[in-house]
Amino acid sequence: MQVGRSNATRKKGGPPATWGRGKLTPRASRAPVVQRSSDGFRNEHSEMRKEIARVAMEIASIPAASPLEQQRKMAQVVRFLCETIVPHSDWEEKVLYPAVDRLAGEHPYPFTSSMRYEHFIIGRSIDELSREASKIEQNAAGFLSQGNQLLGLILAHFEEEEAVLLPILDEGMSQEEFEREILSPPPEPHLPKGS
Ligand SMILES: [Fe+2]
Ligand SMILES: [Fe+2]
Repeated sequence: MQVGRSNATRKKGGPPATWGRGKLTPRASRAPVVQRSSDGFRNEHSEMRKEIARVAMEIASIPAASPLEQQRKMAQVVRFLCETIVPHSDWEEKVLYPAVDRLAGEHPYPFTSSMRYEHFIIGRSIDELSREASKIEQNAAGFLSQGNQLLGLILAHFEEEEAVLLPILDEGMSQEEFEREILSPPPEPHLPKGS
């Protein structure tokens, strides 16, 4: 996928189709769309959320599957986590978080410390799931429970980044600066090829 390119025409959640036809025209009073410097990066999170929704369905289908299918599904879930989530977190710690720390003000305890620690917790859980998936006799119920907890944590983590960290970059950097300093040279692809 391309990072830093706007993609979206939202179909769901938009205004009712009747707006603008009657006497009251909320269309006229709608707030203008404000472009944020981090929109390209936010789009990447949106794409990953779609992948996460697919992975959640895969996890939910594990208990009812045959042992062979369970093995295949667990391996697929772990592959997504290792090939998509881990590189994304690594890139953030190398590129995105240092920029946030700089703009939030130099401090012996960086602003992003707790978010970095969440990456560690996410990575630890991925390792545990990976170990479970590679066992000869797997615990499907345990994998389901831990997998769901992990996806919930990842989604909450995305929201924290968007609500707390990205506004600091939106305020402190123009879109051009964001493109140049954060997105160029292009980061490693964060989604598996063909997704
Ligand atoms: Fe992160
Ligand atoms: Fe992220």
